[in-house]
Amino acid sequence: MTQSLPSAAVLGARAFAALQGLNRFTDEPGKLTRLYLSPSHRQAAEWTKGAMEVAGLSAFIDAAGSVQGRREGPVSGGPCVMIGSHIDTVKDGGRFDGNLGVVAGILVAQALRDAGIVLPFALEVIAFGDEENVRFPTHLSTSAALAGHYDPAWLDSRDADGMRLTEALVAFGGDPSGIPKLVRKPGSVKAYLELHIEQGPVLEVENEPVGIVTAINAQRRARVRVTGEAGHAGTVPMSLRKDALTASAEMALALEAIAAAEEQAVGTVGVFTVEPGAANVVPGSVTFTVDFRSPSNETLTRMEAAIRSRFGEIAARRGVFLDIAVYTNAPAVPMDAGLQDALAEGVARAGGNGTARRLPSGAAHDAMAMAALCPAAMLFVRNEKGISHSPLETMTEADAGIAIRVMLEAVLELARREN
Ligand code: GLV
Ligand code: MN
Ligand code: MN
Repeated sequence: MTQSLPSAAVLGARAFAALQGLNRFTDEPGKLTRLYLSPSHRQAAEWTKGAMEVAGLSAFIDAAGSVQGRREGPVSGGPCVMIGSHIDTVKDGGRFDGNLGVVAGILVAQALRDAGIVLPFALEVIAFGDEENVRFPTHLSTSAALAGHYDPAWLDSRDADGMRLTEALVAFGGDPSGIPKLVRKPGSVKAYLELHIEQGPVLEVENEPVGIVTAINAQRRARVRVTGEAGHAGTVPMSLRKDALTASAEMALALEAIAAAEEQAVGTVGVFTVEPGAANVVPGSVTFTVDFRSPSNETLTRMEAAIRSRFGEIAARRGVFLDIAVYTNAPAVPMDAGLQDALAEGVARAGGNGTARRLPSGAAHDAMAMAALCPAAMLFVRNEKGISHSPLETMTEADAGIAIRVMLEAVLELARREN
């Protein structure tokens, strides 16, 4: 028996109910913390696999820890349209970042199955597991595995407890040796679509429920180690100190100034670890992260040069050693123009007051990695307060429903283009 497609209101209600199920899984009770390959990631992956199966997809958890679901098209093993996002989170993150995009893909698959709609391609839904890159110094590793640019050095990288990624993957139930086999053949994915909460305030300010991403900003990340000299806090005179913390603090302020001097650039020190870390010891060493982003690759190159030069001057003046290791260098990625138009067609057909506002993304997304494999595009949903990477992240059920309905219409538009 066939049914008509569900309304935006029904899709929104289904999405919020599903998120309640998925977001029970956390590493820290009372918060939403779900780091890559953690026990709660495993539970969330199993929940996601079950939800995919209920939606009529055959599903499995792959060698890198992503959940892959598929319904065949007219030709078994033929090309697919893929809808995906991620189920890992930052520490004490929001409910929607990543999770909503995965739930949206499952609800689209379910709605098409229930309506008895036969697509001229296979449909896949994927829940990546390493978008936030919080636990290990990777960059979108689970989507890079599909897109064919997984860096094998990531397997040897370590988390804050010294555990190697390869060991964490085995403990999770994954298979490091199976990662190369995850690569998709060119042409096997016709399109990758990702729905994501906007992680800023633009759509809210402009009173638009959804927006279409034009490009994802370039991003670099570095680990900086400053080594001074530990000493007694009561006895080492100020003039003789080589305090790694005050040197690092000056570097953090220099980063702030470097980013502020560039149009549309941002710079953040998000991790700051002081050793030995006692009230009565002059800090001997500090390790901190630097994350800087811009729509322009050239701007990031200029910023990196400024960071190296300013940090170097500070280190020399204060007599401390400096080591800067850049571990992420991701250029800006434009989204596919044809798929942006398919999403715009989806906005038009889904009704509502959406006008297909186009905007760039300051945040990184799995679509960035997938764009190396296939045409990729993203739909943003209005964020009620513009806040993300925080438990205060929120959106309305109505907006979630409109966005999922747009995704559904965009998939139907891609099907029409085949005929
Ligand atoms: C992930 O959300 C990032 O942009 O770092
Ligand atoms: Mn995200
Ligand atoms: Mn995020």
